[in-house]
Amino acid sequence: MSRNRITEIGEIDSISGNNISVKLFDNIKSNMPIIDGVVYRIGQIGSFVRIPLGYANLFGIVTQIGSAAIPESLREAVAKDYDYLKNNRWINIVLAGEQVGKKFERGVTQYPTTGDNVHLVTINDLDIIYGGYEEANSITVGNISVSETLDAKIDLDKLVSRHCAIVGSTGSGKSNSVSVLLQSIANRNFPSSRILVIDPHGEYNDALSNHSKVIEINSSKDESKLEIPFWALPFNELMRVFPGSLSDQNKEYIREKVVESKVASAKENGLPTRKESITADSPIPFSIKRLWFELIDFEKQTFTDIARTVLSDLTVNGNADDLISNEYTPAGLGNAAPYLNNKAKGLLGFLDSMRNKLNDSSYSFLFSPGKLTPDLNGKIEEDLDKMFFKWLGDKSPITILDLSGIPSEIMSSISGTLLKIIYDGLFWGANTKVGGKNQPLMIVLEEAHSYLKAGEHSISSRTVQMIAKEGRKYGVGLLLVTQRPSELDETVLSQCGTMVALRMNNSKDRSHIRAAVQDELQSMVDLLPSLRTGEALISGEAVKIPSRVKFFKISNAPKSSDPKPSEKWLDEIDAPEEEYKSLVKSWRNKNYKT
Ligand SMILES: Nc1ncnc2c1ncn2[C@@H]1O[C@H](COP(=O)(O)OP(=O)(O)O)[C@@H](O)[C@H]1O
Ligand SMILES: [Mg+2]
Repeated sequence: MSRNRITEIGEIDSISGNNISVKLFDNIKSNMPIIDGVVYRIGQIGSFVRIPLGYANLFGIVTQIGSAAIPESLREAVAKDYDYLKNNRWINIVLAGEQVGKKFERGVTQYPTTGDNVHLVTINDLDIIYGGYEEANSITVGNISVSETLDAKIDLDKLVSRHCAIVGSTGSGKSNSVSVLLQSIANRNFPSSRILVIDPHGEYNDALSNHSKVIEINSSKDESKLEIPFWALPFNELMRVFPGSLSDQNKEYIREKVVESKVASAKENGLPTRKESITADSPIPFSIKRLWFELIDFEKQTFTDIARTVLSDLTVNGNADDLISNEYTPAGLGNAAPYLNNKAKGLLGFLDSMRNKLNDSSYSFLFSPGKLTPDLNGKIEEDLDKMFFKWLGDKSPITILDLSGIPSEIMSSISGTLLKIIYDGLFWGANTKVGGKNQPLMIVLEEAHSYLKAGEHSISSRTVQMIAKEGRKYGVGLLLVTQRPSELDETVLSQCGTMVALRMNNSKDRSHIRAAVQDELQSMVDLLPSLRTGEALISGEAVKIPSRVKFFKISNAPKSSDPKPSEKWLDEIDAPEEEYKSLVKSWRNKNYKT
């Protein structure tokens, strides 16, 4: 009993819902009592208190201190009484869970009443709160901030299947936290864990090198080259790759041509697909060069007769493979032969921009995807199964898709398509052994704000919303990483069962976090600007109790891709004139590598 007296700090004054107002005892003179040689601090936001109730203990989290914590009913009365304010201290707490026997459980089965004593929580109590994770199902990612000896554990199943968001300003330690998480999963040596990292800046290549395979655009090896066949893009996304607007009519015209090509090439490749079920969105190969060639040919045709039945002579014999169009004898002036094709669609401008992209080497991951490239008849050497196997079937637990070489104007389209391809594959393949149900997949979306803008009906936003809503049924979990939560769709953020909030300076972003966390914890969001680097407030399903955690620091830090002026300006650059020459050459050829 004497032990209890040492830890007593106050008593409950009022209770409203889950929110409890506690008046600290007057005789708590020191803010920092010492118990068993350990110094404790009373009334730190985010720290815990214990309320003994018979054989059980309730545990609460301190959410407010000082005058803000004075109960509403008293506030007016004491507002002018300076002495009272000075001599009385209050804290607000939120009940988080309950200890029965040696076990800590979330949520409470019984409520305290006014007058019940409130105690500070000792290291022994913390052991109870943070212990009790099932080893098989938990990973350790750092320490609990209040006590370096306590491991911060996370429930792996809940983390993956209920989605998780990691948010924080630049430099707050997001990428480090992701690496720590992934590394601790990898260290468990599961024979078939699957994690796919969508890495827009190529930051993770080194950080996780022991456990991962990197797939990137500029790889010289086939097995690690990022190739996304254009024909797997839904029709609208494919059209979006080509700048310039298309009238609805022309879009439909091209759509029909694409369907025709896909039907023909499904036959050519012997795909067991019913003709009726093929649409312009079906992931079926077709030759885009031939499509271009036929479209432009129709535009350029001239005829010798006014009825437009006999084509005039060719002046240039084009070929589809090299994207050279046929040229016909130019049309006569006025009403003289040859005659222009009066059914032409006015697509020449669009087709020009299409050819530009087809020739652009920064788009070759899309239009010349190795063995996935269809020949002029739409025949392919390898099919999508090889691509899935490359992305998802590797022995290493983590696969990094390094998207750093993808032109920024199509980043959102491509990353969205990529997610859609993967999700569709796992969804339709749910009953296969490699479907998401049998081998769940965690998808990490680094810098998610850069391709998932809120309110945009882009394919990436739509796909992520779909995965957020129904992914767990099909074994697909998201780990969303962003520095701008305010730019993300709120429904996506609110679908994340676990929130890891690192330091966050921007108040607009904080208000989005506030909206996404549990009501009673909202005041804790005010703490975010003061967190140290690598320190986070973790709340939600994957932790037993909302906790302030310091993540481990990974030895191989993810490299930030931004150049450091103070370092870079130290370098001497020889022959800068030549360098500018190659700069212009690269620009003209749209090729980084010349
Ligand atoms: N837990 C940590 N402990 C110590 N330093 C850290 C920790 N997490 C990150 N850092 C350091 O902070 C810097 C920024 O981390 P980073 O993970 O790249 O942040 P972000 O991805 O949020 O921009 C890096 O130099 C990193 O080494
Ligand atoms: Mg980062």
